[in-house]
Amino acid sequence: MRVYNVGIIGCGVISRTYAGDIRAFYPELRVAACADVNPSLAKKLADEFDIPRACKTEELLGDSAIDIVLNLTPPQFHVALDRQIIAAGKHLFSEKPFAPNVAQAREVLALAAQKGVMVGCAPDTFLASGLQSVRWYLDAGLIGKPFFVTANMTTFGVETWHPSPESFYSRGSGPQYDMAPYYLSAIVGLLGPIESIAAYNTCGLEKRRIYVGPRAGSDLRAEVPTHYTAIMRLASGVLVNLNVSYDIYRSNLPMFEIYGDGGTLAYPDPNFGGGAPKVYRKEQFTDPVYRDTQEAKDRSRTFYELPELFPRPKDYSRGIGVLDLAKAIETGGKNRANGELIVHITEAIEGLMISSESGAFYRMTTTCERPEPIMPGGAPDEI
Ligand SMILES: NC(=O)c1ccc[n+]([C@@H]2O[C@H](COP(=O)([O-])OP(=O)(O)OC[C@H]3O[C@@H](n4cnc5c(N)ncnc54)[C@H](O)[C@@H]3O)[C@@H](O)[C@H]2O)c1
Repeated sequence: MRVYNVGIIGCGVISRTYAGDIRAFYPELRVAACADVNPSLAKKLADEFDIPRACKTEELLGDSAIDIVLNLTPPQFHVALDRQIIAAGKHLFSEKPFAPNVAQAREVLALAAQKGVMVGCAPDTFLASGLQSVRWYLDAGLIGKPFFVTANMTTFGVETWHPSPESFYSRGSGPQYDMAPYYLSAIVGLLGPIESIAAYNTCGLEKRRIYVGPRAGSDLRAEVPTHYTAIMRLASGVLVNLNVSYDIYRSNLPMFEIYGDGGTLAYPDPNFGGGAPKVYRKEQFTDPVYRDTQEAKDRSRTFYELPELFPRPKDYSRGIGVLDLAKAIETGGKNRANGELIVHITEAIEGLMISSESGAFYRMTTTCERPEPIMPGGAPDEI
């Protein structure tokens, strides 16, 4: 495969993870240019990661050497900039959320089809070691037939670490756009498409103190709900309980557990690419009935860690979805974080909001296939 030249637009917090991880792990990709509305930020990123060119957005899009452009700007700029990227004839990989609603997601994808370019979108964490391992264990029947999932993204917002937290609490934002995509793509990637959603929302904490960055010490007001609780039914019949929150300081809820008729599979956090899954098998539960030993009793209370089946060069990583997109461009195949999945996840986010505002179930109108699993045994870039 040839090396694909990548351009980054939006040189903020997450651009550093992309630039560093692409350089470290994916030799098929090369970050060749970066741009930001603030030119000094583009220059800073280029200096930090030896990116040969820091320039204006228009210059990056006009550079015929660039194959794929990453849109790493804040959510409110995604759709407009995606259109510009596609219009320039570049393949697009966008950070999440792809679009505020299905209609706009479809418009962007239609434009891409018209221009003959491919589209990928974060989250790509479901392609990384941890969740791909879960996929293999699940498909191998380790917990039998799944029937229920609990997924709990319980954090206390972003203001203790993000220097520009305002955009996370303004109109068009909130945890359903920012964090739910990780959990939704993990659920759909592992267990298939969603059929219906019932949700409620609330704002647990409206006044938020900014702790870091230039506005540290000042307060902002959340303009949007900051907590969503939902029940979903998947097309397979599996039920899901999903909580996404910016209002919880700490919780003992599991972040991600799948329950089957043969046991339970636990995963640490779908926001991270790596993390060893754990299993609890039904035999552990039933053995003490036959065998009255301390060992059997201890086993009946223990989750066992499973090996990850893929390399995990880094815990918190980005860029595997860009590599997946480049490989699909190269082979003429289908990337895994593809348009069908993007539209389905976008509709699920809309469904969370529509159901919580209407008080009614939201019936999904879109569907998608489970993306192809990655074969175990390869290097980090062999996907
Ligand atoms: N911060 C994280 O840890 C994180 C993690 C995963 C995903 N994301 C996603 O990545 C995206 C960016 O998040 P971030 O935290 O890096 O934001 P950020 O605010 O730190 O950086 C965004 C950058 O984009 C620039 N920008 C804004 N509008 C632009 C435009 N029209 N053209 C060019 N540049 C523009 C800004 O000047 C800024 O430097 C968001 O969609 C977010 O959801 C962030």
